[in-house]
Amino acid sequence: MQMPVEVKLFGLLAHPAQHSLSPLMHNAAFHACQLPYHYQAFDVPPDQLEEAIKAIKLLNIKGVNVTVPHKEKIIPFLDQINEEAKAIGAVNTIVNENGSLHGYNTDGDGYVQSLIQETTVDLHQASIIILGAGGAAKGIAIYLLKNGCRHLMIANRSPLKAEQLEEQLQAYSTKLEHQVEIRHVPWQKAAEHCEAADVIINTTSVGLWPHVTEMPVQLKEISLKQKVVSDIIYNPLMTAFLQEAKSKGAEIHTGVGMFIYQGARAFRLFTLQEPPVEVMKQVVMHHLQRSSYNQH
Ligand code: ATR
Repeated sequence: MQMPVEVKLFGLLAHPAQHSLSPLMHNAAFHACQLPYHYQAFDVPPDQLEEAIKAIKLLNIKGVNVTVPHKEKIIPFLDQINEEAKAIGAVNTIVNENGSLHGYNTDGDGYVQSLIQETTVDLHQASIIILGAGGAAKGIAIYLLKNGCRHLMIANRSPLKAEQLEEQLQAYSTKLEHQVEIRHVPWQKAAEHCEAADVIINTTSVGLWPHVTEMPVQLKEISLKQKVVSDIIYNPLMTAFLQEAKSKGAEIHTGVGMFIYQGARAFRLFTLQEPPVEVMKQVVMHHLQRSSYNQH
């Protein structure tokens, strides 16, 4: 006789929560793996976050993802967080280990896995420029370094934030076994530095719906052959930046990969099983193509 598998509940803490594609993606993944688990989105207003954390323990919810606006504020309520999440200063995945809540950040990790799986980038060789110096840039930069990136440039509209991010990355890099060269470059010269890089990653919100014709940097004047151009925006899927890059011969990488792979990394933490990435990708892509999500 087979032992029955324990029913487990997982979820998302967000505010608002109703538009998230995480329940769709995780429930499809559980189903594909024949796991009797359920993933539920919970709308948690900021002033109720501590109560929500208590509820996770009380109701024995086995794991949750955390998104806007809770990723930073949730940290003091956790029992442990891993080194990368600490360095990033944000948590997007929590695993309930017998009442002890452990925090991780799978956003940057997921982004880098998606870049590795979906493009020809060789992280050990490539010179990479990140446009933007916000939370997303920080997560991505830390995981690029952790995964072997040796040459990293940061360009941000507000120079102070680029400088601060560079300092934080330098501090993190002392824990690595390989040498890294990290520097910030002036926003006004970003196009020039894009030309010198092999991989260009847009982490700014420029080009996000409804401002779909805007681009963080003008690529018109620069040669993009042999380069990979990546955008973390997935609404729209093909940003103006990626369209321009594609028309100039670059290999492009869309933002949906980051969403899928952050979910895949979380799935692995939740279940200790290999995530069914193709199923997760299909269900998300199907939804995005069917809905007006990336057109409106
Ligand atoms: P996230 O967590 O998604 O990274 P964020 O922390 O608010 O969000 O960061 C947004 C990024 O987009 C920042 O790097 C921001 O630049 P500033 O630090 O100068 O604000 C960048 N950004 C937003 N609008 C921009 C614009 N119009 N031009 C250039 N950069 C912009």
